[in-house]
Amino acid sequence: MPYLKNAWYAAGWSAELGEKAIARTILDQPIVLFRGAHGNPLALTDACPHRFAPLSLGRVTGSGIACGYHGLEFDGHGKCVRNPHGKGAVSSALSVRSYPLAERYGMIWIWMGDATLADESSIPVLPLDNAGLSWVYGQLHVSANYELVVDNLLDLTHVEFLHPFLASPGNSQRTSFRAEHKDEKVSAFYEIKGEPISGLFQLLWDGDETEGDMHAYMHWQPPSNLYLDVGMSPLGADTAAGAQIPTTHLLTPETEDTTHYFWAAGRNRRHGDEQISGMLHSGRRMRSRTRMNL
Ligand code: FES
Repeated sequence: MPYLKNAWYAAGWSAELGEKAIARTILDQPIVLFRGAHGNPLALTDACPHRFAPLSLGRVTGSGIACGYHGLEFDGHGKCVRNPHGKGAVSSALSVRSYPLAERYGMIWIWMGDATLADESSIPVLPLDNAGLSWVYGQLHVSANYELVVDNLLDLTHVEFLHPFLASPGNSQRTSFRAEHKDEKVSAFYEIKGEPISGLFQLLWDGDETEGDMHAYMHWQPPSNLYLDVGMSPLGADTAAGAQIPTTHLLTPETEDTTHYFWAAGRNRRHGDEQISGMLHSGRRMRSRTRMNL
């Protein structure tokens, strides 16, 4: 399947990558992720050029990785730097591809295309480093093409039916909608005035009101990174005055039919409430494999 390669994709949460290497298929390519001597993330093709053993099954050396089959060692650029056999001859043919990485917002970003075009300024701007928000995050493995997940996230009319805890019955009938295409982004704006406060927002609601103004603004930065600015505020008040539960949805094609789905759910109130953290986490389905606080 053709993919948009000259773009930043979420490769994994920073907290996932410890002392051991991780094997991850991204855009149909086998990738090994590991950390270098200074803790910097590194990514190489996960196949030794000798007999194609996965390097992820080898040993992280500190500055690179050693193949577990016959011991060839590679640096973070994919260059073979040690051959433990014979006279230790090293050929330039014994190298593997390396991929540009960046670490931002507790996420490791990978550039799968032309390395000379990798520009960190094009990494999506996300609120994951906003000190006024606390977050839970995790990841899902989706058995579907990533474009179907993008479709699902931009069209939020499914929410009252699939996620009744988030939106009240009839929600989609009462919603005003507009879409915007600006620069390289597409945004879907949903707004409802005088909406019953849903179960989700009751968790964060401060007053005695039973209704408020709801907004859900989904922003898509192609190919597959989305941010949902969603909140509920007192009637007629500015959105900033209300309860907010922003979420990020970072989608990375694994194959044509499967997707890595890295999600994070934030909130601007009840920061230390572990019960709410648990509810926000379980709302992302039980198939989520990881729960950590940023
Ligand atoms: S397969 Fe890696 S050193 Fe032989």
